[in-house]
Amino acid sequence: MKIAITGAGGQLGKDLVRTLAPGHEIFAFTRAELNVANERAVSETFAKVKPDVIIHAAAYTQVDRAEREPEAVYTVNSFGSRNVALAAKHTGAKLVYISTDYVFDGKKEGAYKESDWTNPLSVYGSSKLHGEKFTELICDRYYIVRTSWLYGKYGDNFVTKVVSLAEKQQVLAMVCDQFGSPTYTLDLAEFISALIETDRYGVYHASNRGVCSRYEFAQHILKAAGLTNVVLKPVSSDSFPASAIRPVNSALDDEAIRVNNLPPLREWVPALYDFIRNDLNYAGVRKEKEGMNDD
Ligand SMILES: NC(=O)c1ccc[n+]([C@@H]2O[C@H](COP(=O)([O-])OP(=O)(O)OC[C@H]3O[C@@H](n4cnc5c(N)ncnc54)[C@H](OP(=O)(O)O)[C@@H]3O)[C@@H](O)[C@H]2O)c1
Repeated sequence: MKIAITGAGGQLGKDLVRTLAPGHEIFAFTRAELNVANERAVSETFAKVKPDVIIHAAAYTQVDRAEREPEAVYTVNSFGSRNVALAAKHTGAKLVYISTDYVFDGKKEGAYKESDWTNPLSVYGSSKLHGEKFTELICDRYYIVRTSWLYGKYGDNFVTKVVSLAEKQQVLAMVCDQFGSPTYTLDLAEFISALIETDRYGVYHASNRGVCSRYEFAQHILKAAGLTNVVLKPVSSDSFPASAIRPVNSALDDEAIRVNNLPPLREWVPALYDFIRNDLNYAGVRKEKEGMNDD
């Protein structure tokens, strides 16, 4: 298939290219190559490429900064997504819109299903929900893929941050009252690769399975990276005042994946260990691996 990817310079975008390139003809657009907020550029680019599938991974993703720059955020995440949806409709492409757990308010007990009521708490979450609405209103053949707590080889993310802090500090304070599902971008890219082969359109929750707090996530990061001397201190989210309000619980239930017999993402712990072993450019882990090879 001919697959066009927006936001191809981002952490998910790069793993989408890595996963899909062997089997497909890929047209990968970084922000410099295609600004999704530019309606004309989006329309002309996709009219020329005529893709079978568009994967729209581009977004304004700075959740705290978004509170101070709402206009810039809505321009990219809402209006930009409208532009991409219109181009998908006009070229006859299927559209994958990547969305977020931050469309929920976190007040539910238990994991969120695709059919649960949305109520974003932040500018970022609200702008992404607008993107979902444009997708649903404009396109017939679309997949809305909500995911959460992404980390991957090509990004600055929670995993890389914890590792880099642990190299400098003996004690790390970690929030223990925010719960979600960490997701490895390579696993998500593989799921999307299977999804686009189907005509099972609709909304999907696609995160690595299972739920943890930021504190538990950090515990496993340190263990997997062999940084066992570092002490973690559980603290409440009030200790880290942030501009954006985040949902307390944004665990996602993958009911649509199960009902449609699609390949589920694996549990978050083995995914994290694989990422740290195979993808994280971290000297401590590399040394340990080299040491083991010497045996
Ligand atoms: N990160 C998470 O934890 C998380 C969780 C749930 C859902 N998501 C969603 O997953 C998708 C991928 O996120 P990610 O983690 O890969 O984020 P990312 O690394 O920040 O990638 C997003 C990419 O979009 C690009 N971009 C920004 N504005 C653009 C514009 N106007 N036109 C075209 N490209 C633009 C960015 O370019 P620059 O770098 O040049 O700005 C960046 O390369 C996004 O839709 C995000 O909302 C992310």
